[in-house]
Amino acid sequence: MLSVCLVVVAVPMNPSGGLDLVCRPTQMNLSPVTNSLPRGIALVAFDGSAGEEFEIFAEEERLLSPGALPRRVTEFRLGRHAAHLALEQLGREPEPILRGSSREPIWPSGVVGSITHSRNLAIALVGRSSDSAGTGVDLENRDRYFPGLETKIAREDEQARLRQLDAARKAEMTLEIFSAKESIYKAFFPRVGRYFGFMTARIEPGQERLTGYFTEPIDPAYPRDRPMEIGRLWLDDSVLTWMVLPPD
Ligand SMILES: CC(C)(COP(=O)(O)OP(=O)(O)OC[C@H]1O[C@@H](n2cnc3c(N)ncnc32)[C@H](O)[C@@H]1OP(=O)(O)O)[C@@H](O)C(=O)NCCC(=O)NCCS
Repeated sequence: MLSVCLVVVAVPMNPSGGLDLVCRPTQMNLSPVTNSLPRGIALVAFDGSAGEEFEIFAEEERLLSPGALPRRVTEFRLGRHAAHLALEQLGREPEPILRGSSREPIWPSGVVGSITHSRNLAIALVGRSSDSAGTGVDLENRDRYFPGLETKIAREDEQARLRQLDAARKAEMTLEIFSAKESIYKAFFPRVGRYFGFMTARIEPGQERLTGYFTEPIDPAYPRDRPMEIGRLWLDDSVLTWMVLPPD
């Protein structure tokens, strides 16, 4: 199967109550992402900027707390929609994607995946477990940056590198490291089964991509010297990072 990129715009529910989906090209160019994906990995980016209503499985809807803010409701639905469409790209019927006790999505058996959302954009990166041992995807908007963020998410060696940059580039690079570490977390959480913090990995910048290394023995298959390739792409005001672990 080929890697798939869909930029999908959802339109309001049609009169019969079903959900219409329209695939349209948008200004967003995700080809650097899709060109980097191994075969069999599906990426779906779901743009809900027109503010339409979205429908997801009732079992998923019940995961939202009754007091969830409208923004959270929209993001959650967008993310689940993107994930359902990604499953379809793998030839699987969409099915409810429930949630574990650490908020992780529970994928159908034989599937690995990851979800991110930022405002009106949600992205799901999904594959069969025979093609990947795990995926991670993360979006961070520029407005997540504040001076001092680096002390929370970067190790001392990473901070030393950041101090050499001018203010604008430092802010960008800090967000790249932040996002890369969140992608790592999402890819590894299902394997590791527990929380691990930002100092557990270090990120080395590169022209084309970022490289991550664990600094602690988190996963026996990933000792400290095993590099993890992490893609990075700026989309307007957000940085997108992604990683696809090879099969074990
Ligand atoms: C869980 C976390 C990574 C989510 O990232 P975020 O930038 O806040 O939000 P995003 O929109 O990018 O991602 C949210 C999605 O992440 C997924 N997610 C949440 N917890 C997860 C976990 N434990 N494992 C895998 N995926 C998880 C969910 O699908 C969630 O969306 P949903 O609630 O609608 O299903 C982040 O809140 C967090 O806890 N980070 C601290 C841990 C960390 O990153 N350590 C660094 C290790 S090097």
